[in-house]
Amino acid sequence: MQGNILIVGATGQIGTELTLALRAKHGNNAVIASDIKMSEDPIFKDGPFEVFSVLDRPRMEAVIDQYNVKVVYQLAALLSATSEKYPEKAWDLNMNGLFHILEIAKTGKLDRVFWPSSIAAFGPNTPADDTPQFTIMEPTSIYGISKLAGERWCEYYFNKFNVDVRSIRYPGLIGYRSEPGGGTTDYAVDIFYHAIESGKYTCFLGPNTRLPMMMMEDAINATIGIMEAPKESVKIRGSYNLSGISFTPEELANEIRKHIPEFEISYAPDFRQGLADSWPNSIDDSRAREDWGWQHRFDLARLTSTMIEEIRKKLVVKS
Ligand code: SER
Repeated sequence: MQGNILIVGATGQIGTELTLALRAKHGNNAVIASDIKMSEDPIFKDGPFEVFSVLDRPRMEAVIDQYNVKVVYQLAALLSATSEKYPEKAWDLNMNGLFHILEIAKTGKLDRVFWPSSIAAFGPNTPADDTPQFTIMEPTSIYGISKLAGERWCEYYFNKFNVDVRSIRYPGLIGYRSEPGGGTTDYAVDIFYHAIESGKYTCFLGPNTRLPMMMMEDAINATIGIMEAPKESVKIRGSYNLSGISFTPEELANEIRKHIPEFEISYAPDFRQGLADSWPNSIDDSRAREDWGWQHRFDLARLTSTMIEEIRKKLVVKS
């Protein structure tokens, strides 16, 4: 594909890893990282970095023109827990951030756009086990409402203006290179740092809260997979269900104990429990598998051993 790639929200949990993966694939200068502020992470030193807000459409369009950008990954958003605290800001950022990119794409300037949806787009009336691709949605969180509305906008822009926008409903994402911020599934990353550093963790979700989760490496493969798929195989233009594994905090703690036998977990559920309870337990992602060949690689055992090994290395380097 001719032209360069822009990642908006590049310093976030997904953006950091996506920047690394896309630079390894296409070369450092072909991938422009961007965020609302500069990052200190040395990961970003190897290629172009632009500071702007996704809400500043003229500035974003100027960057797109300057670098001859043809593909945009629009990842800037407030996650579920932060969105509940700042509903107005969440709505503005999560909706208008997408809207600006779709409007720029509509001019014909961009070949492809990626925008992430989430399991949060589902709600309490959705069948919770093996949640189908097409089902009752009715999200109850601000974040989920913005994701469902965004999915509808994506499909609308594809049908009406032929904007080639592609989307995945990510489960909770677990990785060691970057940390999440303000999400409900963040416990499944925090727990590893606490287990390694202090052997203790107090979880903000109850022991039996089952949620769909995925190792970041799988999520990045899915993201690049859907973006590289031929246009005609991306048949769903709202957003694809995507599934890796599902587990509860208790099951994750038991798996961690295989590596750190003295690990202790306690539970103090807070408002995030209500968000988690409104989301599915597990996801049917057969359409992503059929349409563009998605396959996950990490099960709970591999995810846990990889996280422990990599975070241990990271902490040794820092100390
Ligand atoms: N992981 C996200 C969150 O917890 C859901 O998309 O907010």
